[in-house]
Amino acid sequence: MRKPIVAGNWKMNNTIRESVALAQGVRELVGSLTSVDVVVCPTYVSLHAVAEAVKGSNIAVGAQDAYVKDSGAYTGEISPRMILDAGAAWTIIGHSERRHIIGETDALLNEKCRFALDCGLKVMFCIGELLEERKAGKMQDVLRRQVEEGLKGLPAALLENLVIAYEPVWAIGTGETATPEQAEEAHVFTREVLAGMFGRDAAQAMRIQYGGSVKPDNAAELFSKENVDGFLVGGASLKADSFAAIVKAAC
Ligand code: 13P
Repeated sequence: MRKPIVAGNWKMNNTIRESVALAQGVRELVGSLTSVDVVVCPTYVSLHAVAEAVKGSNIAVGAQDAYVKDSGAYTGEISPRMILDAGAAWTIIGHSERRHIIGETDALLNEKCRFALDCGLKVMFCIGELLEERKAGKMQDVLRRQVEEGLKGLPAALLENLVIAYEPVWAIGTGETATPEQAEEAHVFTREVLAGMFGRDAAQAMRIQYGGSVKPDNAAELFSKENVDGFLVGGASLKADSFAAIVKAAC
């Protein structure tokens, strides 16, 4: 049985004060649930304050990215060691906004993923096709490339700290959600690719989240699919009650 995992990606939203208030709201509503892993991912500047706000609860904290060095002359970057020190246990790597707005490549994301895991962070690794790629029938090619290039060389011992997030780019922030069938199809395919790389048992044990316009009213239907193991939520994670409703749909 894979334990469900629901994470809120707050993206570039909320001041420190607003982040703490949101974290406290989430804590009140779902902080004592143990049947689902809950993670909130504020901006770097709010990581420590949010970690303090959820301390002692079931809620974990994650960063939204992590660089590939420990320290040094890398202006603007943050290392896994600093993220851990701030009280976070997780990081997102390879979010579509970093792939497509910032221009991060599969090779860099592979380095980031490996380094973050080596340093002791848990990773939510994002994959997902663009609308034109889906329309051109290339969804599987894109997912295979992102998984094979992004996760190559990962030691089997660290796989338990890795979660995949399937986020079709056309569903992110658009209000358009993949149907449960579309999500299941992509998750099944992704699990096959993972099985090819790491073996069937490891692939069966790995959790695959769905992300892209997840809301309280579509979460339960998506979660009913066998290979949807939780969610990575953007917009609907910015309100404690809607995020909590999504968490509860995955219980
Ligand atoms: P939305 O839930 O706002 O579509 O964002 C999804 C996402 O990008 C989470 O990482």
